[in-house]
Amino acid sequence: PKGKEAAIYDLYQQAAKLYHHMLVNTQAGDAALNYLTGRGLGRDLIDTFNLGYAPTNELLLPYFQEKGIEYTVLRDSALFIEDDEGQLHDRFTNRVLFPIRNMAGQVVAFSGRRMANDDSPKYINSPESAIFKKSRELFNLDLAKQMIRKSKTVFLFEGYMDVLAAYTTGLPNGVASMGTSLTPEQVGILTRFAETLIIAYDDDEAGQKATARAIKLVQAHSNKLAIKVVRLAEKLDPDEYLKKYGATALQNALQHSLETPLTFMRKYLRNNYNLANEAEKLAYIEAILKVIAQSPNQIERQIQVNELATEFAIKATTLEQQLSHFEQEPQN
Ligand code: CTP
Ligand code: MN
Ligand code: MN
Ligand code: MN
Ligand code: MN
Repeated sequence: PKGKEAAIYDLYQQAAKLYHHMLVNTQAGDAALNYLTGRGLGRDLIDTFNLGYAPTNELLLPYFQEKGIEYTVLRDSALFIEDDEGQLHDRFTNRVLFPIRNMAGQVVAFSGRRMANDDSPKYINSPESAIFKKSRELFNLDLAKQMIRKSKTVFLFEGYMDVLAAYTTGLPNGVASMGTSLTPEQVGILTRFAETLIIAYDDDEAGQKATARAIKLVQAHSNKLAIKVVRLAEKLDPDEYLKKYGATALQNALQHSLETPLTFMRKYLRNNYNLANEAEKLAYIEAILKVIAQSPNQIERQIQVNELATEFAIKATTLEQQLSHFEQEPQN
């Protein structure tokens, strides 16, 4: 029912405020504040993103119970974990918190990062709830959308810290898919705001794999969104790159170290095929043709086919014939 949803939104808003207060105003939050400062986040940024701290002892449960919030509302909020006896407990304890806001700016979930390098999960996330559908949200879209519209460009990152890193270098038009695979809904949303999507996932193996997947997904679901891919180096993610090389270097990389999807895919696929082997070479050429087939521009496709023909000493007409099969195939 509508009433309960509104009540849950209200809980998240209050929780975010309380967590932020714990971080910036209390002694219990000192270690968390030091952690964030140590990662290069200034007080302005901490306030802008309303970062928080969930203390070691339960915070929300006594607070909301005191206020007389109904058990079913608390239970359905997903802010708590229910134990075997049906007793609720704060989901987040002793973690730095990133509030996840929907496009309208309402807090709908939290992601909590561990501070120590122990073997607990690096991030713990709110599960889906009446107000949080993971596949539809992109971290920071509410703050970024104005600048995305203006620049017609959106940066897509893996993580929260990457969005924040870009923000500090003067690029506020970044969002994060929060580590999960990009979804068709998210592509649809981005297509409404941007003309160019710059994928800036981590430069490690997982990030490259996710990039290849994102390219295919965008090409299958949007013929309006132009794609570029940022190449960092040394398997770094944007936040690590900032730390290592500084803000100017990161800003430069995000704006200028760009590859076309085809160039990215050629390099990426090249690592997966042994081109000295004739059968694998054929498989590689076929995989590349599939990418070329998704290019919306006829002239660009022709240029790419010619390049491929030269590189592998194959007649362009042969490649074109093969290409026309892929152009007709629906992508998945
Ligand atoms: N993630 C998650 N749960 C995990 C690990 C990652 O939900 N156990 C999500 C987070 O949204 C994270 C993103 O995946 O931001 C990218 O993962 P990763 O690159 O491992 O983390 P970073 O963003 O680099 O996190 P940090 O810089 O804080 O180490
Ligand atoms: Mn504040
Ligand atoms: Mn990663
Ligand atoms: Mn990362
Ligand atoms: Mn990182």
